[in-house]
Amino acid sequence: MIRILFVCLGNICRSPTAEGMFRQMLDEAGLADRVEIDSCGVGPWHVGEAPDPRARKAASRRGLDIGGLRGRQLEAADFERFDYLLAMDEDNLAALQAQCPADCRAHVGLFLAFAGLPDTPVPDPYFGGERGFEDMMDLLEAASRGLLDSIRERLETSS
Ligand code: 4NP
Repeated sequence: MIRILFVCLGNICRSPTAEGMFRQMLDEAGLADRVEIDSCGVGPWHVGEAPDPRARKAASRRGLDIGGLRGRQLEAADFERFDYLLAMDEDNLAALQAQCPADCRAHVGLFLAFAGLPDTPVPDPYFGGERGFEDMMDLLEAASRGLLDSIRERLETSS
């Protein structure tokens, strides 16, 4: 089992959308029972909340229903539980690195590195308009495809 955690600031826009999108890709690839995924925010403000209506709308335009997800905050156990902790931007990454225990063996990095864009963030769409949510979907899709390829390779070499 490979365990992946998507991380953003509030866990109501980028990371729950990434979770919903990647879950669908895993389902389609027949890998849902080999990869466990979740998402969280580094901040506490939206714990227990459903994803932002604009994220839900952008997701539903691409056939994804993320309405059942609920926000939660990053916790210390996540560094032991997950193999990959994937941050949406440099601020999220810095927060992860600040809390990561010294003996942490998980891969902690930027999600878009899996799209071949090692220094590129998925910009925070919260304070912008609809366009930002569409751009977010495009970036999440590119990164998810790259991540799926990487996970598939890892599963093939380990089985
Ligand atoms: P997310 O977006 O990190 O992609 O979930 C945000 C959600 C809420 C806030 C900021 C970003 N906020 O400041 O409340």
